[in-house]
Amino acid sequence: MIVLGIDIGGSGMKGALVDTRTGERISERHRIPTPPDRKPESMAGVVKQLVDHFDHKGPVGCGFPTIVKHGVCISSGNLHKSWVGVNIKELFSEATGLPVTVVNDADAAGYAVMNYGIGKGKNGLVVIITIGTGLGSGAFFNGELLPNFELGQIPYKKYKKIEEWAAASAKEREELTFKKWAKRFDTFLRYVELLISPDLIILGGGTSKNFDEFEDYLTIQTPVIAAHLGNYAGIVGAAAAALHQAPID
Ligand code: BGC
Repeated sequence: MIVLGIDIGGSGMKGALVDTRTGERISERHRIPTPPDRKPESMAGVVKQLVDHFDHKGPVGCGFPTIVKHGVCISSGNLHKSWVGVNIKELFSEATGLPVTVVNDADAAGYAVMNYGIGKGKNGLVVIITIGTGLGSGAFFNGELLPNFELGQIPYKKYKKIEEWAAASAKEREELTFKKWAKRFDTFLRYVELLISPDLIILGGGTSKNFDEFEDYLTIQTPVIAAHLGNYAGIVGAAAAALHQAPID
């Protein structure tokens, strides 16, 4: 099936056509900046623009950077607060006239890893952590998604959520070395290990590309590996979500 995968973030909305049998991208990637107001109507307009750019008439899968329960936005994350309670699936379906599936962005990245990447065939509890502006998490048990794990939201000391202290954005903001930042990330992973005892942790998101620079500073017992999926995991996973989500939509 050919699906338009769209990876929606706070700064950019990126799409490409994906063959969901193989997980291959079959078009170039097109990126449109996220409208500065980050509000539902304007972002729906960009989804429509992406559909028009590809002249796409089939299913659309979106990865969305908030909690998404049965198509409805439950938290606003880094987007405008008016998103809370919006049925994203309906909004985008109406804007485009196409069937749209929406899942959390880290759950989408997880679909890519588990279906076409290093997680394929891995059983037990596998957790994908995306390291970016925030810390996203996607959990899979025997290959099935357990939606909306939000491990980056654990409160930590004076921080409302540990991602404010341990995500890639904190490393950039405070100009931390990999060693200093990795100690924070390791603290986060210790909580993850303590709370849910995963069998395997797979790292995605931009910073996972530098895994060899911080791997030695991680002290948890759980095996940790990098996804090596490059820039397209969000798009490919969003497309894969269109295949896998239908039963729980
Ligand atoms: C949000 C998650 C999201 C992650 C990565 C967090 O702030 O709570 O839902 O997956 O950022 O975008």
